[in-house]
Amino acid sequence: MKSCKRVVVLTLAGLAVCALLAAGLLVYIGWYDVSATRPHTKLVHRLLDIGLARSVAVRAEQIREPDLNGEARIQNGFELFRTHCVQCHGAPGVAPAPYALGLNPVPASLVASARERPATEIFWIIREGIKMTGMPAWKYRLTDTQMWDVVAFMRILPALSPVDYRQWDEKSTNGLPRSASSASAPTSTSRIGDATAGRQAVEQYLCATCHVIPDVAGASHHVGPSLAGIATRPFIAGVLSNNPDNMRLWLMAPTTIKPGTAMPDLSISDQDARDIAAFLTTLSEPQ
Ligand code: HEC
Ligand code: HEC
Repeated sequence: MKSCKRVVVLTLAGLAVCALLAAGLLVYIGWYDVSATRPHTKLVHRLLDIGLARSVAVRAEQIREPDLNGEARIQNGFELFRTHCVQCHGAPGVAPAPYALGLNPVPASLVASARERPATEIFWIIREGIKMTGMPAWKYRLTDTQMWDVVAFMRILPALSPVDYRQWDEKSTNGLPRSASSASAPTSTSRIGDATAGRQAVEQYLCATCHVIPDVAGASHHVGPSLAGIATRPFIAGVLSNNPDNMRLWLMAPTTIKPGTAMPDLSISDQDARDIAAFLTTLSEPQ
């Protein structure tokens, strides 16, 4: 009986190893077609849809919805929507930009999403983005208040006809969201730098496209110097003495500190720069 059990276990283990090898081989010979012009099969599409729906529902559960009424809030949400969302998602009577039509999956019409999804789920999607779809995370670009403004505008979106939307567009001031409105004052940024938050922020500001950064997946490019061991280097870019406060200044405005540098200004907020500086102090091992 005992040996029978062993045979079963060994057979299963053998099969699992074979399946892994076969999967590895398929990846290696380039069997999978990554082109955006090749759609998923219906079954895969359905499975991914269910995965997305569950993943969002579970994560949005903890979020509390603020009061989403009020003219100013909805108007500001419209301006943000017009600046950041309509290019991909379109709006009543407005087609998405050509590049958005080439995305796979194509961005959904938000009229349907606004009708079907609870506000907390929409907020979560805007804040965190959706991996491997082209839906960006806005957390590092917009404040929580601004993201709720967008959600507030999306609640009235299903009721807008193309004519209504065009009227909103025409009466819009200049397309720039009124970030000074009381509804969207940026949250205060007095927290001291947090290395864990900084580690996350690094992934959201293109750092990995230019620098080798230890433990950050995909950060293997040598456009700029490797950041391994940055904590122990005496100078930042050879011009500033290396401490967290100077690092914050460098990250926020490299081209002001060192005119002509190839490191671009990335519109990093004060708090994110503090957090990233804190993270960089943990990189003390040169690789
Ligand atoms: C670069 C293109 C792009 C931009 C810009 C963009 N999105 Fe998306 N968005 C996508 C893609 C792609 C998806 C995933 C496919 C899908 O489910 O629609 C998506 C998904 C979504 C979803 C989930 C749709 C659903 O119900 O399944 C919401 C909600 C959403 N986006 C809101 C927004 C908002 C609000 C903005 C502006 C702040 C925005 N998006 C900006 C491309 C974009
Ligand atoms: C487009 C490429 C590019 C991007 C994106 C970029 N950097 Fe840089 N970075 C550079 C280059 C090039 C230098 C060298 C600057 C010089 O010495 O003039 C540099 C220098 C630095 C330095 C100083 C390194 C040293 O050895 O003194 C730090 C720290 C740094 N970058 C961090 C970051 C972080 C963090 C991010 C993301 C928030 C980032 N960089 C994004 C290209 C880039």
